[in-house]
Amino acid sequence: MAKPIVIWPDKVLQRPTAKVTDFGPALEKLLSEMMDSLREAEGIGIAANQIGVTLRVAWVGRPDGSFFEIVNPELLEATEAVTYEEGCLSVPGEFDDTPRFRKVKVRFQDRTGTWQTLEAEDRLAHVLQHEIDHLDGAVFVTRLSSLKRDLIRKKMVKLQKTRADEHAHPHRGHDHRHDHDHPAHGHHHHEDHGREDD
Ligand code: CO
Repeated sequence: MAKPIVIWPDKVLQRPTAKVTDFGPALEKLLSEMMDSLREAEGIGIAANQIGVTLRVAWVGRPDGSFFEIVNPELLEATEAVTYEEGCLSVPGEFDDTPRFRKVKVRFQDRTGTWQTLEAEDRLAHVLQHEIDHLDGAVFVTRLSSLKRDLIRKKMVKLQKTRADEHAHPHRGHDHRHDHDHPAHGHHHHEDHGREDD
């Protein structure tokens, strides 16, 4: 079952996650729960702390639409500074040009604990940087100007309140419940314009 995605600035998104040491069934279960939430939200990546689990695990979307897991990832090299318009499932509806690197080299484990090294460019490199940021306790808005970040924070705090009220009084928020249960509906529009959430 898909767990709800935590909205920034929730604290769980602002703390570094812990290294995974147990590569057993609990990790499989976590990956499966994360994938359910990712598919429901139609994102291109998701980090464990986005569903409230403080472990160093994320799903990363490839340009062909498939996904692979990264466990305990490390950014080894990052070259060619660029900006890239990013969104995030934890910052719904917000898209901004974010400073990133066009090429990265990363090292990570898979679900069995096997280490792999990957060199990536462009979109895949951006998704990797975005997810590793999440696991380090950062969201793309932390890379924007403080003015932009504060504006987005105000909007998100308001959104968090709306959602909390809906949970407390579901009969009152009936018109909004559909959006809440299916957050992906707002994203089709953005994806049509080549924007993506992760
Ligand atoms: Co994100």
